[in-house]
Amino acid sequence: QSSAPLVIAVDGPAASGKGTIAKALARHFDLPHMDTGLLYRSVALSLWRFGGDAGNPFEAVRAAGEIDKIDPDDEELRSETVGELASRVSAYPAVRKALFERQRAFAAQDGGAVLDGRDIGTVIAPEARAKLFVTASPDVRAMRRFKELGARGVEVHYEEVLADIVARDARDADRAAAPLLKAEDADLLDTSDLSIERAVQRAIALVEARLQAS
Ligand code: DC
Repeated sequence: QSSAPLVIAVDGPAASGKGTIAKALARHFDLPHMDTGLLYRSVALSLWRFGGDAGNPFEAVRAAGEIDKIDPDDEELRSETVGELASRVSAYPAVRKALFERQRAFAAQDGGAVLDGRDIGTVIAPEARAKLFVTASPDVRAMRRFKELGARGVEVHYEEVLADIVARDARDADRAAAPLLKAEDADLLDTSDLSIERAVQRAIALVEARLQAS
């Protein structure tokens, strides 16, 4: 078995369950965890709050340099508006470049790490010893997001949530810079018909199988 640090890459589309799975893996393997979507969301919130045009890559890059002003516990970071804006600014190669080093350093720390996002297995940590590509059908993801929003008291229509998910998928997958893509050596985990508990169990089993093989 390899003695290289355990780096686990978890990628997938919005509301696939990748965040929950990444957190559970971090707990199980006792590793630090980074939600890289939060970095892009912080750029978006910084633009939104401190003024700036998301259509201008230069302003987006400036905002990327100021994300430490955003409190990672800020509720607004998790809003649909900010997620949508994050998806837009993340298409700029210069924004991705500005956030690269921070993610790379986290992935390269001595004790290993779990990172979740869209391009961890392909760009940020191609050397990761275990890679999961977590998906679920658009309907299932939209229903999860719809229920989550309902629980937070946000009033939305299911059709609207589904349309947003489909649009976000298209934008994240079709962009030229580091598109959402399953790494060739990633294990596919479709959570459409799995409870959270079953999905987490399955993820742990997939990672353990990879560790045994490496
Ligand atoms: O995972 P999330 O919904 O918090 O991510 C918000 C947006 O950030 C997503 O639509 C695309 C972008 N993103 C990215 O381009 N690369 C990552 N590694 C993580 C997120």
